[in-house]
Amino acid sequence: MPDHPAGDSASRAAHLRAEIERHNHAYYVLDAPTIPDAEYDRLFRELLDIEAAHPELRTPDSPTLRVGGAPLPEFRQVTHAVPMLSLNNAFSAEEAEAFDRRCREGLGKEHIDYACEPKYDGLAITLRYERGVFVQGATRGDGFTGEDVTQNLRTVRNIPLRLGGKDVPTLLEVRGEVLILRRDFERLNERQRERGEKEFANPRNAAAGSLRQLDPKVTARRPLRFFAYGVADPGAVLPAPTLHSGMMERLAGWGFPVAREREVVLGAKGLLDYYERIGAARRALPYDIDGVVYKVDRLADQDTLGHVSRAPRFAIAHKFPAEEALTTVEAIDVQVGRTGAITPVARLAPVFVGGVTVTNATLHNEDEVRRKDVRVGDTVIVRRAGDVIPEVVAVVPEKRPILAPEFVMPKACPVCGSAIERPEDEAIARCSGGLFCPAQRKQALLHFASRRAMDIEGLGEKLVDQLIDNAIVKTPADLYKLGILALANLERMAEKSASNLLAAIEKSRQTTLARFIYALGIRNVGEATAKDLARHFGALDALMAAGPDSLQQVPEVGPVVAASIARFFSERHNVEVIEQLRAAGVHWPEGEPAPRATAALAGKTFVLTGTLPTLTRDAARELIEARGGKVAGSVSKKTDYVVAGTEAGSKLSKAQELGVTILDEAQLIDLLEQA
Ligand code: IVH
Repeated sequence: MPDHPAGDSASRAAHLRAEIERHNHAYYVLDAPTIPDAEYDRLFRELLDIEAAHPELRTPDSPTLRVGGAPLPEFRQVTHAVPMLSLNNAFSAEEAEAFDRRCREGLGKEHIDYACEPKYDGLAITLRYERGVFVQGATRGDGFTGEDVTQNLRTVRNIPLRLGGKDVPTLLEVRGEVLILRRDFERLNERQRERGEKEFANPRNAAAGSLRQLDPKVTARRPLRFFAYGVADPGAVLPAPTLHSGMMERLAGWGFPVAREREVVLGAKGLLDYYERIGAARRALPYDIDGVVYKVDRLADQDTLGHVSRAPRFAIAHKFPAEEALTTVEAIDVQVGRTGAITPVARLAPVFVGGVTVTNATLHNEDEVRRKDVRVGDTVIVRRAGDVIPEVVAVVPEKRPILAPEFVMPKACPVCGSAIERPEDEAIARCSGGLFCPAQRKQALLHFASRRAMDIEGLGEKLVDQLIDNAIVKTPADLYKLGILALANLERMAEKSASNLLAAIEKSRQTTLARFIYALGIRNVGEATAKDLARHFGALDALMAAGPDSLQQVPEVGPVVAASIARFFSERHNVEVIEQLRAAGVHWPEGEPAPRATAALAGKTFVLTGTLPTLTRDAARELIEARGGKVAGSVSKKTDYVVAGTEAGSKLSKAQELGVTILDEAQLIDLLEQA
């Protein structure tokens, strides 16, 4: 650090404070960053250094205070000069209209302009500025006395520490809410998770917990934000504002963050349109809101209307249906999805939330139930936002009954009774019922009929829905029992398409082992693996009898795939369906098991180039791989053989250059036939 004389340091520090706060404002209030982070950090460090060398230059508006000072033993009490009132609520359009009627009657006016704003779901606070410098911040408390959380509020990045703009009042008390933006909340919880710390149930709880930290350094690490919605005493501001909306503009001009969504509207219709608009935009807002607030815009009219008990007559909160509610868990069941995924579901005492009565909420998966530790009998927070599936957000631990056993995943599928399996390092447990499980039938049938499986043309989604829903088909084997009558009775099924479908089903009886294996829909067995299995075992019975160890002998089959295959065939229902399919005449040519790796080929690398006289490239590759060889795309020093046909190009010349052995098809076949 350059060693400034104290005077120079003072002016440099003042300059740095102003610069840093200007960048803060651009970043956190205007959402329009002005300098790169590294440059900001440099300015910040320089200011820290000056303050360390000259402690007398530390000011209460220094951005260095934003990282948090020393912990407090407790919060001091603050008496609010102007009480922090609450708002009356409206829960319906009628109640909002009644509010407008009361205001019109009270003011003797036909039409009233209203200033409308979102109702932030955060914590009310008040900020005191003397000569434009932030000096004290407090929570609402009981409305008359709150807690002094000045140190913590200094760490909130979008609260101005010193006001800018014109006509800064000598004394100003700004009212607003502290909250956490939804995206910051997600990140905060992610961080909590990574550190193995408890997650927060929602942004509001996280904001509340963060604001009430005695150690401001903790608060400084939490992404708190502030939004201003008014001043304690607009009468004390000069030149005197006439409108609340004008007051909000002034606040923005001094550097306070205000809602972008504020609007001035006319009359009850204006209010209700605003409510609809914000309601529709709710999910897209960066923060949680629980309604909108309507305020008579003209400040003189506000005074005329005055207050009743602890709420103003000139303003009202029009609430959205709550997205969260408390209820109790009556049972925890599991549901089977179309792919066999097992999802735990909480059965709830009916509760009205998000505008509907909710009786079920998803618990996502077993780990999630453990993490949230949801148990039967628990009181829980349920959330239903927009059209999303209701979910259990958190348990209220104090309300847990004494005997509340932990959740255990059932062993058997609730739909078909097959074993529930959860592969290691997977979050999702699944029903192993496959072809047999009704919950999975549609999916299984569509897959079975798909082009690369049994290739039954005309068996699409709509038809599968009807066949399963009307219990005409239960397993793929039933397809082969279908008659023209059963089909012709289905919706939108002309006789012609019925007979086409029957022909396609008939044709599919003759298939290949690889297609059949693929059609079974074994988890983790795609088309390529099905081919490998068919080639390796040659016959279905050999595959069905293979244990995980011998399955792993198949090239490319690892422990996970081997386990899924073994699991599939150990399920009696699956074996029964296969037997029925064979009995129905589904057949394929079976062969000898493929040769094992041979000494001549094991570990050798081949490159294929040009057109071979009889073998296609795929066929050559299969033969090579079946004997333990590898096929690579390009020639290098590691290549053992290049197999060249006609019109071989650069790969051949490269092989010649490197002295790699070159084979023609006949020589390749010789090699393949060696033991
Ligand atoms: S104006 C006289 N405007 O709602 C009270 N309040 O139910 C004037 N709130 O604790 C409040 N968003 O903290 C106002 N745009 C908004 C608001 C808002 C949230 C909170 C406020 C108060 C509570 C009253």
